[in-house]
Amino acid sequence: MKKNILITGGAGFIGSHVVRLFVTKYPEYNIYNLDALTYAGNLENLKDIADAPNYTFVKGDITDEIFIPQLFEKHKFDGVVHLAAESHVDRSITDPFAFIRTNIFGTCNLLNAAKNAWKDNMEGKRFYHISTDEVYGALEFDGTFFTEKTKYDPHSPYSASKASSDHFVRAYHDTYGLPTVISNCSNNYGANHFPEKLIPLSINNIKHNRPIPIYGKGENVRDWLYVNDHARAIDIIFHKGKNGETYNIGGNNEWKNIDLIRKLCEIMDRKLGRNAGESAKLITFVKDRAGHDLRYAIDSTKLQTELGWKPSLQFEEGLEKTVDWYLANQEWLDNVTSGQYQSYYEKQYKSRG
Ligand code: NAD
Ligand code: DAU
Repeated sequence: MKKNILITGGAGFIGSHVVRLFVTKYPEYNIYNLDALTYAGNLENLKDIADAPNYTFVKGDITDEIFIPQLFEKHKFDGVVHLAAESHVDRSITDPFAFIRTNIFGTCNLLNAAKNAWKDNMEGKRFYHISTDEVYGALEFDGTFFTEKTKYDPHSPYSASKASSDHFVRAYHDTYGLPTVISNCSNNYGANHFPEKLIPLSINNIKHNRPIPIYGKGENVRDWLYVNDHARAIDIIFHKGKNGETYNIGGNNEWKNIDLIRKLCEIMDRKLGRNAGESAKLITFVKDRAGHDLRYAIDSTKLQTELGWKPSLQFEEGLEKTVDWYLANQEWLDNVTSGQYQSYYEKQYKSRG
């Protein structure tokens, strides 16, 4: 019998890469992609696999207390890969409640539906929650790393909501025996990244000769991982991770924001046939983000040694590929920045699976 796997948030940035990987690699699974198609969800990200026989798109909200249990009852899911979330730190500062609703309540609603659906037999079931390194707070410039044992210390409403959802996942494991696993990943980059985040926003602005906003002095450090490497890690953890465990995922690839943007400007000058240094003139230092975490850096030794994952791509190569994707997909960028894509695709996929 084919296994039924629910992936939430599959129309978003990381989710779309995970859905594609699972649909193409596992014909023995029926993949259900549940997504509310918020501003960040875009079915255009998945148009190449939309007609695959083992793929079904379901439009729905993870916070819906009636619909989610019905969906579990209807499709008898064997596993859940939960990515749906409000994901942008700046939005969480202006609208924290949206993050509380989706990231905390939505996760609890899914956990509860899984617990009730699986209560008679949890054997072979798996609830995999995708989280972030931001739950660990911020590091100094002292060469230390976040490990799975680092104490939670979230600072933004986004990271606080993700930390809370992680705690609920562990509580459902410890209290009800739900077979759960969690991973905490560093910053992703690559194709289909919504252009509110640093790298795609900067590529788009450089292309259009608009200012590149750098918060504060650009001294903050992020640990960047190519999105397809994250998707591969998710595949490995979903299949081989141990119940009740946490795995950190990261690129061991720390960049100060300002150095990263200078590197991006160099690449863009070359690709656009501009004089060296031209794009960097667009760099504009702006007011810092409130509560801006100084440095993130992940120690992914556990995942590498216990489950055999490692990042496949060097950053320079990944960044070139990413720039190439955005330059070749200007229409995608125009669509997502104008919001047109939802009305067009919703017309085609309005039914609930
Ligand atoms: P994204 O914002 O690009 O996509 C989120 C997706 O979730 C969208 O398709 C959106 O429509 C959907 N969604 C939002 N609210 C929903 C709801 N109430 N019901 C159903 N669907 C809903 O996010 P992303 O960057 O792809 O992140 C995916 C997950 O990975 C998140 O849980 C995030 O916390 C985590 N994560 C992201 C990064 C990163 O660098 N982007 C790093 C580590 C962890
Ligand atoms: O670390 C994982 C997290 O990475 C994920 O959990 C989040 O979902 C994801 O959005 C990302 O969070 P960040 O806040 O690190 O990503 P963002 O692209 O928003 O910002 C990256 C860095 O760049 C951060 O230090 C803030 C800075 N920045 C960001 C923007 C949008 C700027 O300087 N200017 C900008 O315009």
